[in-house]
Amino acid sequence: MALIGVDIGEAACHLRGGSLVAIPTETVYGLAANGLDGRAVAGIFAAKNRPRFDPLILHCDSVARARELVEDFPPAAAALADAFWPGPLTLLLEKKALVPEIVTAALPRVALRVPAHPHALSLLSMLDFPLAAPSANPFGYVSPTTAQHVEEQLGDAIPYILDGGRCRVGVESTIVGFEQGETVVYRLGGVGLEELESVAGPLRLHLNQSSNPAAPGMIRSHYAPRKPLLLGEIPRLLEANRTRRVAVLAFRERYRQGQPSIALSPRGSLEEAAANLFAALRELDQSQADLIVGEALPEEGLGRAINDRLRRAAAR
Ligand code: TXA
Ligand code: MG
Repeated sequence: MALIGVDIGEAACHLRGGSLVAIPTETVYGLAANGLDGRAVAGIFAAKNRPRFDPLILHCDSVARARELVEDFPPAAAALADAFWPGPLTLLLEKKALVPEIVTAALPRVALRVPAHPHALSLLSMLDFPLAAPSANPFGYVSPTTAQHVEEQLGDAIPYILDGGRCRVGVESTIVGFEQGETVVYRLGGVGLEELESVAGPLRLHLNQSSNPAAPGMIRSHYAPRKPLLLGEIPRLLEANRTRRVAVLAFRERYRQGQPSIALSPRGSLEEAAANLFAALRELDQSQADLIVGEALPEEGLGRAINDRLRRAAAR
């Protein structure tokens, strides 16, 4: 069983020794290892049961240290880093040779991010290497937003979980890269498209739907609870499934017919809904229900990232 604690020095000690540590970030908890040590990184893939073709994000405590990992940090990247780091934005840039191939799944670019969580930042500043960290969940399952979520699923695979409380943003980072002068979005996430566009100008969306991603934007069936999830109009789904035990995941309303029923944000805040999303999916997945029904949120701001996660969770 993993120890859950708030000792940043102890986390650093494990990481220097090549072990895995779960770390809090503002988006979701990450499963971290020394990102310049191929053997330590291999441990991440093993613990998560993650296919080696799915590359990892390297976390740094500053733009300056992120720059050391890439051949070039173009002005368009610098503008975004300036605006959103520390924060839920990941940049894909051409990697230097010191970044092991296992981190990038042999792709030419590396994913970089400066997380906006005080524990993660102090930990990173104690280390002389970046941290490779995917979300700290078994491959394909819902991402963790508390230390307890991590413990429930990966507790046996890691010695230490650094507890940073509930993740403030609750969905993963937005992933952005640059192709022939265009800013390309590969994954919707904690920075909304509107915000991104206000800094980067027009965006191209390249949201990968394939299950064998050559440049893995994302895998279609992902973030998935074990119970089936149906998306649509909740009253109709409840009616159509009257004979079954149904749990409900709604935006604002609590449905009395659903057992249990969760409203992601009764006051209609997309930020609050994002922060509650993964914990809600876990709770409903652990309920007595046979299936979960849910609805899409408004397709704006964080609503797009939430809908993306819901659709992937519903895809089978
Ligand atoms: O918010 C987040 O991004 C969280 C926290 C822990 O930082 N991390 C996270 O990591 O969501 P993960 O591994 O679950 O998702 C990272 C995704 C990969 O699945 C892949 O789609 C993309 O980032 N990615 C990483 N490196 C890439 C690369 N070199 N080229 C293309 N895509 C890459
Ligand atoms: Mg993940």
